[in-house]
Amino acid sequence: MKRSVFAASSTLAFVAATLAQAGPEAEVLHWWTSGGEAKSVAVLQQEFAANGGTWTDMPVAGGGGDAAMTALRARVLSGNAPTAVQLKGPAIQEWYEEGVLADISAVAEAEGWDKVLPASIAAHMKCEGQWCAAPVNVHRVDWLWANAEILAANDIAMPTSWDAFNAAADKLMAAGVIPLAHGGQAWQDATIFEVVALGLLGAEDFDKAFVDLDPEVLASDKMVAVFDQMRKMRGYVDSNFPGRDWNLATSMVMNGEAAFQIMGDWAKGEFLAAGKVPGEDFLCASAPGEGFLYNVDSFAMFDVTGSDKQEGQALLAKLIVGQNFQKVFNLNKGSIPARTDVEMDAFDSCAHLSAAEMKTSSEEGTLLPSYAHGMAMRGAQSGAITDVVTAHFNSDMSSADAVEMLVAAVANSL
Ligand code: BGC
Repeated sequence: MKRSVFAASSTLAFVAATLAQAGPEAEVLHWWTSGGEAKSVAVLQQEFAANGGTWTDMPVAGGGGDAAMTALRARVLSGNAPTAVQLKGPAIQEWYEEGVLADISAVAEAEGWDKVLPASIAAHMKCEGQWCAAPVNVHRVDWLWANAEILAANDIAMPTSWDAFNAAADKLMAAGVIPLAHGGQAWQDATIFEVVALGLLGAEDFDKAFVDLDPEVLASDKMVAVFDQMRKMRGYVDSNFPGRDWNLATSMVMNGEAAFQIMGDWAKGEFLAAGKVPGEDFLCASAPGEGFLYNVDSFAMFDVTGSDKQEGQALLAKLIVGQNFQKVFNLNKGSIPARTDVEMDAFDSCAHLSAAEMKTSSEEGTLLPSYAHGMAMRGAQSGAITDVVTAHFNSDMSSADAVEMLVAAVANSL
């Protein structure tokens, strides 16, 4: 008797515990592991939990997400895809074509995403007409960050041309200051390269080279000039650059060990997380040249079974595009909201500059997808270009040879 009462009560306890656990759940694969990034993703975790969700975190360290994408492939191949994955640009379409993405159109339609997202962003989130990803933000890639005190002490203004940048860097070198904080990882080399390329090619030829993969522009004298400038950039980094993570490069600017960094505005998330103030401690400006390179973070939901998981996907998608999350997350992340109806009062001067220049670039036709951050082309092509960029940066290869290699690499990847 005693025994069966005990058994019954333990069964009840088990049922109660199971019920308590039931509800929306999500296993979320992402690469937001730096200080500013972790603070930002915590906003989503908290909102998910506040709405009854159970979050299983799957962070894969490595800026730019290469390691996260390798982890994702392994999980999908073993038939055990995570429920939600930080995924963007053409990679969303590539996974959709594999037949492994869930359709989140019901949430998108119920929430009226078409009315609150710019058409250019919505287009990246749709696969053959159905919604297959939820956008988080708009990061701008073509930024120049600087330590305000170093520039003032050396009587240097934020450069508005690449010649002015080179003159500033030469002056800093002569004064014993590291001009450019950089981490020698392929995606960081690619980031600098595309910013220099936009500046020197101009928006129209950037579009031809890195969206259309036009062999003429890839082989042009202007592209030779881009590699010439990359050779100069190589001379402006310190000797400890190989392998350094991007956020450690940002810290060098923060701590006065280096003057500039070229990086997307996730770098601003690091400055802010460290309590630094834009316009006082650090400066932001669009890198020399026209245009705006956008990089939209988004989450795709993978096809999974189980109502708890599917509920979790729907909740996550709804929260991600929700007004509150878009505001709070982006205040931390350094980006601006993907939604057009978010109150921007609380955002800083760099975010306002980004929003204003995104609008004018869009009107002028110079709003362009970032190749280095997986927005412009498929993996095979962007990988081929980055291999050349990084091989050139890490050797004494001539610009002419680099251009020849670039043309061949792109042709072979098609
Ligand atoms: C992502 C950002 C991230 C950065 C560094 C970019 O590709 O879009 O969200 O902060 O990589 O990891």
